[in-house]
Amino acid sequence: MSHRIERLSLKGEGLTGDGLTVALALPGEEVEGEAENGRIARPRIVTPVADRVRPPCRHFASCGGCALQHGSDAFVAGWKTQVVERALAGQGLEAPVRPILTSPPASRRRAVLAGRRTKKGVLVGFHARASDVVTEIPDCRLLHPDLMAALPAAAAATLLGASRKGALAITVTRSEDGVDMAVAEAKPLDTALRTDLAALAETHDLARLSWNGEQLAERRPPRQAMGRAHVVPPAGAFLQATEAGQAALTQAVREALDGARKVADLFAGAGTFALPLAETAEVQAVEGSAAMLAALDRGWRGAPGLKRVTTEARDLFRRPLLPVELARVEAVVIDPPRAGAEAQCAEIARSDLARVAMVSCNPVTFARDAKRLCSGGFRLDWVQPVDQFRWSGHVELAAQFSR
Ligand SMILES: C[S@@+](CC[C@H](N)C(=O)[O-])C[C@H]1O[C@@H](n2cnc3c(N)ncnc32)[C@H](O)[C@@H]1O
Repeated sequence: MSHRIERLSLKGEGLTGDGLTVALALPGEEVEGEAENGRIARPRIVTPVADRVRPPCRHFASCGGCALQHGSDAFVAGWKTQVVERALAGQGLEAPVRPILTSPPASRRRAVLAGRRTKKGVLVGFHARASDVVTEIPDCRLLHPDLMAALPAAAAATLLGASRKGALAITVTRSEDGVDMAVAEAKPLDTALRTDLAALAETHDLARLSWNGEQLAERRPPRQAMGRAHVVPPAGAFLQATEAGQAALTQAVREALDGARKVADLFAGAGTFALPLAETAEVQAVEGSAAMLAALDRGWRGAPGLKRVTTEARDLFRRPLLPVELARVEAVVIDPPRAGAEAQCAEIARSDLARVAMVSCNPVTFARDAKRLCSGGFRLDWVQPVDQFRWSGHVELAAQFSR
């Protein structure tokens, strides 16, 4: 029996009218295949659509690191833009949506690899699609060459630190000073393992190596450029996934807050937006992680000529900034995690603020929060989609609100 793909899920997988999920299929295609647990894992594409292309990566058929290499760049850009537009329409919102800015191939500078021990040795790569099997990725088209060069170090860490059962989670981050590797779900440290891991960091010239949350070696502080400042974030901490994506989001935030002399950066992380904004404005950076704020503060102190930046560690879900606090700034940038910032947006809507830049990695919670701002009298001036998770189902965006 054949099935017709009606649309894509938010993960970029095909969905049929009767609710089946079909991997690697595009809207409009007729597919055949065995359905198991509501899913056709290995579909036969009976009628391909014109948007179907040969996947650029040879690992794509098995690797779960990418979801959408079988669609043309134009198709993926159009689909991600539609995801944003539909989320807005779902809340009854309309706004100019700018052309999406997509990061180039081979530019991901942060990734979580899986490392597993096998009878013969080790496997390092991404999990296979909908599976816990690890696919090796020697010709990955996604990762920056500096991260590709760190695969042997990840393999060596797996050999030392993975048990036969579980997989290691190996976060590799490219920095100005080499690769920053943070390994989690690994064997506990003992004296011998410490010695071996210190030698591994030397042999593979890692800038920093952390193990189950403990820093083992810092051969060079792994710095990240944020505007004119250089920040050494905590090991494994959040960082925008590509340099191009960070630049696109920063440019949009600068534009949205142009001319403001006092701003608050909410969910500030290690200062991705706070530090560039401090070139022209005083910034109050608020964030849940004290370690990230400490990194931000050190970065600010090391950069000449920036305006004042203050930091506050605060849970913005439970204790959002109140209108009386928001009255101390002229504008805010807000960049919450996937859950969005419902409580904080309710307070912004009640405040007298006239300008907000919102950055989001989830168009659905963005649209919900945007609706809250618009109900408080804001206008959504524009939305800039940014695709730094090329070939995945994710899309990010920056937006300007004013009143
Ligand atoms: C999407 S990241 C953005 C970070 C930063 N703006 C950047 O671009 O690098 C979201 C940030 O929200 C922080 N966060 C998560 N939950 C929070 C909460 N309840 N209160 C305050 N900060 C929180 C995380 O630590 C993380 O740094």
